[in-house]
Amino acid sequence: MNLQNDPLAALWMPFTANRAFKASPRQLKAAKDMHYVSDDGRQILDGTAGLWAVNAGHCRPQIVEAIQKTAAELDYAPPFQLGHPLAFELASRVAALMPKGLDRIFFTNSGSESVDTALKIALAYQRAIGQGTRTRLIGRERGYNGVGFGGISVGGIVNNRRQFGTLLTGVDHLPHTLNMEHNAFSRGLPTWGAHLADQLESIVALHGAETIAAVIVEPMAGSTGVLPPPVGYLQKLREITAKHGILLIFDEVITGYGRLGGATAAEVFGVTPDLITMAKGLTNAAVPMGAVAVSRHVHDGVVEGGPDGIELFHGYTYSGHPLAAAAGIATLDIYKSEGLFERAADISGYWEDAVHSLKGKRHVIDIRNAGIVAGIELEARAGAIGKRAMELFHKCFDTGLLVRVTGDIIALSPPLILEKAHIDEMIGKIGDVLETLD
Ligand SMILES: Cc1ncc(COP(=O)(O)O)c(C=O)c1O
Repeated sequence: MNLQNDPLAALWMPFTANRAFKASPRQLKAAKDMHYVSDDGRQILDGTAGLWAVNAGHCRPQIVEAIQKTAAELDYAPPFQLGHPLAFELASRVAALMPKGLDRIFFTNSGSESVDTALKIALAYQRAIGQGTRTRLIGRERGYNGVGFGGISVGGIVNNRRQFGTLLTGVDHLPHTLNMEHNAFSRGLPTWGAHLADQLESIVALHGAETIAAVIVEPMAGSTGVLPPPVGYLQKLREITAKHGILLIFDEVITGYGRLGGATAAEVFGVTPDLITMAKGLTNAAVPMGAVAVSRHVHDGVVEGGPDGIELFHGYTYSGHPLAAAAGIATLDIYKSEGLFERAADISGYWEDAVHSLKGKRHVIDIRNAGIVAGIELEARAGAIGKRAMELFHKCFDTGLLVRVTGDIIALSPPLILEKAHIDEMIGKIGDVLETLD
């Protein structure tokens, strides 16, 4: 087919089975609050906040108006050696939401850029404080840290890595924390597995602490199927990293902005890293934006300790873009005025009961939850990994529910404005569809 007779041909879609999609396309044409509207005019309940991102619900007028007003006033301002007030205002607002001490904010345009930025800041910091031998980066199996070369190197997803050559050198990985033998159907954080953080001691023993710059983990791994951290695991990681002078980075691109019932997972779990990456909920996904929150000592190590001139040779044409900054400020206003982080915490008990009511349904081998997130793992069909869940995805979409699937895991992360009736509808639909699957 060529462009003239196939209007779908030109777009190479990301993380999509392009040939299958184009043979049977699904398109969205509008969205409002908890729902999308499909191109055939059906209401689709959004069980995934878009892509873990639209935490305040869709097309909120306050955010739309802020973007429109700014587009007409200051369409763009170069961020190198120049500023504009909205970026400074948003940075202050973000800093106020971070754990104490992480009050220096670097803007990016995505989660992937936030991860690569955080890794580069970690390396620059170690060098600036005279620890230039610390160049190794430690990630974790089943970690999704975006798709930049830094992110896929520390990330632990085989499919995301194998097409792209040798990646960064000097990277090692912690084991992931999912263990269904010990923890299947845990409600909230699993109780078994804190000791897996001790593997970091083995990595330190192997390479030498003086070669390791930073450890990066998602406090709750999201994209590889919702893996809440075992009780005490993150505390141990913090203790071990601090003991060895290794920076700890939390990748909070999913867990930030209310998803777990607080501004950050760091706050919810009571563990303060040195850097936090974020994106998604920062602007309610209305304009692409990411950020890295950096602790004062790391920032000062690079910025105060360096010679005159540019302190960090890093940044993006669109860092702190006016439209994104306007959207971010309006989004944070909504989170605050509607108490959405607290609302997520309040409704999380109902959510937990509802998702665990799927235990015993056909094919379900594990259910995991934290805040307003759930992972429902299905048994894979022999020789056809992911097929069963993909069928469920299609059937749910046809019955008016958007879920996300990864392998044979259904991931749910709806907007935080959801009502109990939405939860009932979501779980009811998934339960019904499960009964129809081979
Ligand atoms: C934990 C985490 N880090 C990084 C990213 C990458 O974000 P983006 O797709 O905005 O580059 C994601 C995206 O889902 C993520 O979940």
